[in-house]
Amino acid sequence: MTASDPSQTTRRDILITSALPYANGPIHIGHLVEYIQTDIWARFQKLRGQNCWYVCADDAHGTPIMLKARAEGITPEALIARVAQEHKADFAAFRIGFDNYHSTHSEENRYCATLIYERNRDKGHVESRTIEQAFDPVEQMFLPDRFIKGECPKCGAADQYGDNCEACGASYSPAELKNPRSVVSGAVPEQRESEHLFFRLADFEPMLREWTRGGGLQAQVANKLDEWFDAGLKGWDISRDAPYFGFEIPDHPGKFFYVWLDAPIGYMASFKQLCESERGRAAGLDFDAFWGKDSAAELYHFIGKDIIYFHALFWPAMLHGADFRTPTAVFAHGFLTVDGQKMSKSRGTFIKARTYLDHLNPEYLRYYFAAKLGPGVDDIDLSLDDFQARVNADLVGKVVNIASRTAGFLTKRAGGRLAAELPEPALFEDFVAAGQSIAEAYERREFSRAVREIMALADRANQYIDEQAPWVVAKQDGQDAKLQGICTEGLNLFRLLIGWLKPILPGTAEAAERFLQIEPLTWADLATPLLDHAIAKFEPLMVRVEPAQVAAVLEASKEDLAAAGQPAGGQGADAGAAAATDHLAKDPIADTIDFETFAKVDLRIARIARAAPVEGADKLLQLTLDLGGETRNVFAGISKAYAPADLEGRLTVMVANLAPRKMRFGVSEGMVLAAGPGGKDLFILSPDAGAEPGMKVK
Ligand code: 2FM
Ligand code: ZN
Repeated sequence: MTASDPSQTTRRDILITSALPYANGPIHIGHLVEYIQTDIWARFQKLRGQNCWYVCADDAHGTPIMLKARAEGITPEALIARVAQEHKADFAAFRIGFDNYHSTHSEENRYCATLIYERNRDKGHVESRTIEQAFDPVEQMFLPDRFIKGECPKCGAADQYGDNCEACGASYSPAELKNPRSVVSGAVPEQRESEHLFFRLADFEPMLREWTRGGGLQAQVANKLDEWFDAGLKGWDISRDAPYFGFEIPDHPGKFFYVWLDAPIGYMASFKQLCESERGRAAGLDFDAFWGKDSAAELYHFIGKDIIYFHALFWPAMLHGADFRTPTAVFAHGFLTVDGQKMSKSRGTFIKARTYLDHLNPEYLRYYFAAKLGPGVDDIDLSLDDFQARVNADLVGKVVNIASRTAGFLTKRAGGRLAAELPEPALFEDFVAAGQSIAEAYERREFSRAVREIMALADRANQYIDEQAPWVVAKQDGQDAKLQGICTEGLNLFRLLIGWLKPILPGTAEAAERFLQIEPLTWADLATPLLDHAIAKFEPLMVRVEPAQVAAVLEASKEDLAAAGQPAGGQGADAGAAAATDHLAKDPIADTIDFETFAKVDLRIARIARAAPVEGADKLLQLTLDLGGETRNVFAGISKAYAPADLEGRLTVMVANLAPRKMRFGVSEGMVLAAGPGGKDLFILSPDAGAEPGMKVK
């Protein structure tokens, strides 16, 4: 079954999810495409009066999270608690209206994961096999493919991951890699045997083929699935050996569920927690009514196109094998590019949610993404010039403008009251009728079409005001009633536009509701005009985006990078769909630069005269560097690795001709060179005795 007919009258039970973000890094604008897309759809369904619930959680398990916590010298529990707070604050600021936000590291998830595993096992869908895997003899742990690097067996490129080569694109197994090294310890990995549990995906082929053809997948996704069926469904390795941050498998001590087994189960766990909450109980929410085998509720997962395999094969199979219902539909979207290119830290386009929020109104981005989003899996581009132009022209110039052109006259000349009737009821009715097509566009996730249609109507509303010229009528004697009528018509058209935009612009809609002094609008309210009603004094609902604000976001995104102690332009940076291993992966050798470019870098020996913590930036140290006669102030992201006292008096190497960079805490006048993955594993360069402050490094 696909999305239902929006004109139907029975109240639909709908559960919606977005993919769970990993609990080891911040939310960035690439992630936000999905959360904004899902939130708009969930808000639309609620506005239409459906019994709709939107849940999500942090994806808290796995090796990268375990190792990141270790690198920070904290427990995984402490790491995921901190990240959960950051994620929740970012989502709240972007008005992502989750009904519940949980964690996969929770009792509800342990319960559901165990149940799903045991039911599948008892039906014979889990088998045990001994496999050979790379093992780090120093860290005493098995290594996931992304934690092994070496030379590509096909083209010889250095520093390639254990699963594929970024230079020639070859895929291979880690055992084929030449001169392999563990990314964790640098040791040469050994091959060791271990018993693993496999989910027998092939058992579900008939069921999956039927589910795939059931209309719940986009055409491109269904085609991809056909390719996978043709290639043959292979058993899925669902266990990992200790040490691992996850749930221990009940009948296999020392083995843990692979993070991807319990991640989608997090959707259920979050909903379960909601059902058991006060709010869920008050709403009569019943877990089985949504997840039971015969559930009549609709279940939708919004995901990125990179995780289709998990959601369209493993997930429905696991659910079916455990006697739960399968998803109604899985909606995949594409990746985000910025100005036509992959997000890049060196260009400042790898923009964290928080950095954006420091400078710009979240409603702008919600609107821009909506204006670009369709129902397919195509990538979407954030063109920064277009972003400013569209927000200013559409939202400020068209929509908000209608209210600012009419409200003042009502306040000054009609006692702040709307007229008792509309002068042109037919115009209002035309608008109301157009709402049907807008609703259909939302329902089909054709948000760009919805936006286009709403903006065409905004043009018509402005045209009405132009024609009626209330500013002329205001100057005519005895025309107050006419003036009130025109402005009442204008504000009623404005109210319709705001009602239709409400899923996209919840904050602006709230402000408009305050201005109109009305209860929160629903879709059904829109058919009736607002008449003979007092409004509040008009305050601008939205201001223009200024180019300086966008420039500040880009600049601050480069600063974020400097604060993190990473060289700009390094890779890890350029993550379209940020890999879970980004923070640990060693940077592959970047593109070559010519000698002339290199020669421009002025490297100097510097003596660290003073080192001090920076209030409000726990990763930074403020260094006073002596260059032999000249001192420099430099902020370096090395405080996890060094106490100030360990640094004072030491010699190191700095980039002396880096352009001064304004940071939140002051101006940084250069950069200290350091090596290592980050956190406490960071090592500043130390020249041998004999080097003197100010000497050029050759
Ligand atoms: O790819 C990711 O970012 C995963 N954390 C998504 C998990 S979605 C669901 F399966 F939990
Ligand atoms: Zn290669």
